Amino acid sequence: MTTRALTEPSPFSPGYGRRPLVFGGHDDELSELSEVFASLDFGESQSVLISGLRGSGKTSMLARLQDAARDEGWLVISDDASAGLMERVMETTIPALLGGLSPDSRARLTGLGIWKLDAQWEYVDRHREIRPLLRRDLVALSEILAEERRPAGILITIDEVSSGKVRLRELSRFALEISHAIGEGANIMVAFAGIKIDLDALVEQEHTTFLRRSRELDFRRLSPTQTRHVLSESIRIGGKTIDEAALDLLVSVSQGYPYLVQLAGDYAWRSSGTNAVISVHDAESAHIRAVAAVERRVISRVYQDLSEKDQEFVAAMAVDEGRSRIADIVDRMGVSAQYVQVYKKRLIGSGYVQSDGHGHVIFSLPYLRDYIRSMSRERVDSPVSDDLENYPPRPVTADDGREA
Ligand SMILES: Nc1ncnc2c1ncn2[C@@H]1O[C@H](COP(=O)(O)OP(=O)(O)OP(=O)(O)O)[C@@H](O)[C@H]1O
Ligand SMILES: [Mg+2]
Repeated sequence: MTTRALTEPSPFSPGYGRRPLVFGGHDDELSELSEVFASLDFGESQSVLISGLRGSGKTSMLARLQDAARDEGWLVISDDASAGLMERVMETTIPALLGGLSPDSRARLTGLGIWKLDAQWEYVDRHREIRPLLRRDLVALSEILAEERRPAGILITIDEVSSGKVRLRELSRFALEISHAIGEGANIMVAFAGIKIDLDALVEQEHTTFLRRSRELDFRRLSPTQTRHVLSESIRIGGKTIDEAALDLLVSVSQGYPYLVQLAGDYAWRSSGTNAVISVHDAESAHIRAVAAVERRVISRVYQDLSEKDQEFVAAMAVDEGRSRIADIVDRMGVSAQYVQVYKKRLIGSGYVQSDGHGHVIFSLPYLRDYIRSMSRERVDSPVSDDLENYPPRPVTADDGREA
């Protein structure tokens, strides 16, 4: 066997739900919410709704919140909005959390008559004679916690909210329990994450009116400065450096779209092999591969999932270089302005398109336009200010030598 220099493992984590080594942006939100964990002064932050397109970092943000809450001694209940949520939380998650409380607190819990604990204060079962109610569990936990670790509360994060009818009914029952617990004084912050239309549907449910006062975070893209920070910090921590021009190129390529930032960084890292410096050549190779991967894994699926009319809408948008005038879209589609408003609202709700000034829309998902056009455009050099306009998406051209 021949020996060769080992390549350092990549510090990037392209993939859904894979938390990034360096989390870019959202500093203000994170510090404000962390403040609540420290003070229990909830203000506007009793409930949080995190929306945004696929791969924009919703799950990663929930993970950051969970870390921040745990750091302040909070208990964390995290789950997906899939079938059986209430049961999982009550039968598995909460019993496991009891084990993390002090023996003193656990001894006191037995007196509440909700849970049976053995002589070592380990959880055995629920007391079956009392009707199990999540609100009761939460209030009891919160009270014990307030005495044990003042101040501390319970963070509940529910990811992957979807708006299927059955799912929504279950989720709204779950939310109702939380709102009762909060009403009874429990220290709870709840965060739901999903696509905007699904979160809107959740808020419209019968028992979820309290969610209308939620703090809303709508994730789009990171700024060029944030993107640059994620790339260069990850590379530094990973043990390499990057050529300045290569970094510029990766910022352009990734367009601030978190998933693509990780993908492009990862490809560039791997391309550099055993070299200590990531070169322009590595960034160029990452460009081709990352855009191809995002087209295959995200954009083509997004496009196929759109209704025919929504596809016509985005095709009408793709004619323009930058933002599109709604009035032009109406002309191009040849339907009434009212219809166009309906499609527009739905596309904005899915996160793929966003309003851009009065009467205009623009793509939020980078490379969607290029995918629709399958045409190339020229690169703009020398970014100067901190705006995405200076980092136009760079379609892969035939000259880039992508293999068929
Ligand atoms: N703020 C961030 N900075 C750097 N990388 C990030 C950030 N947020 C997310 N990422 C990376 O982007 C990718 C997608 O993140 P994540 O899974 O959190 O997105 P999501 O919005 O939950 O997607 P989905 O809608 O598919 O659930 C992951 O590779 C993650 O590491
Ligand atoms: Mg997710």
